[in-house]
Amino acid sequence: MEWIVVRDYDAMSEEAARRIIERMKAQPDLVLGLATGSTPVGTYRRLVDAFRRGEISFARVRTVNLDEYVGLAPDHPQSYARFMREQLFDHVDLPADAWDIPRGTAADLEAECARYEAHIRELGGIDLQLLGIGTNGHIGFNEPGTPFESRTHVVALTASTREANARFFERPEDVPTHAVTMGLETILEAREILLLASGPSKREAIRRLYHEGPSPDLPASALKHHPRVTVIVDEAAAADIR
Ligand code: PGA
Repeated sequence: MEWIVVRDYDAMSEEAARRIIERMKAQPDLVLGLATGSTPVGTYRRLVDAFRRGEISFARVRTVNLDEYVGLAPDHPQSYARFMREQLFDHVDLPADAWDIPRGTAADLEAECARYEAHIRELGGIDLQLLGIGTNGHIGFNEPGTPFESRTHVVALTASTREANARFFERPEDVPTHAVTMGLETILEAREILLLASGPSKREAIRRLYHEGPSPDLPASALKHHPRVTVIVDEAAAADIR
């Protein structure tokens, strides 16, 4: 695991975007694994800026996302499909059929998980996967206790995750109770991984990721088995690692 500590959220976003832009230039048909949440917003803004400057194109890129809430249709304001369109897809030249996100309203969620795994395989796997980290150490919606060998599956969200995400919903009880998430093994198959963390709320998860060995208690620690992971953290999140 390579650790990069930068000053603040903007510097984290700048460093992440710089690396993604570099990969996109080297491989225009890159398969990008994307994440939602507050963490990657600044990174996506910089990718949109780079596209507008003519520096990068998404015309041959394919994307998949980590997860989606069960029960939210792709056009629901809090769905991750909508988030991705608003933050990135609608502002760049990514073809309409070039992105995929688990369908949280699929009638048969097990079949949807299998479809998603098959699609990632058809794409030839993920070249570069972007990750945030939950305050409880989750990646995607792989909550503590998830086996490292898990594939795309349906999860019951923990109280802490539903609480952390309540800020996006009108009422706390509107936060869905379940999600579909890529599994830890699915994530670990990405050829390269970039994990971002910013702010004091991530301090404890980052402290544990830095100091502890791999254990399902801390899902992000599965990344310690991966040969090519870069963690970009700001000083507030990194307060306990130096
Ligand atoms: P956040 O979420 O970027 O909104 O902090 C990260 C996560 O839960 O993985």
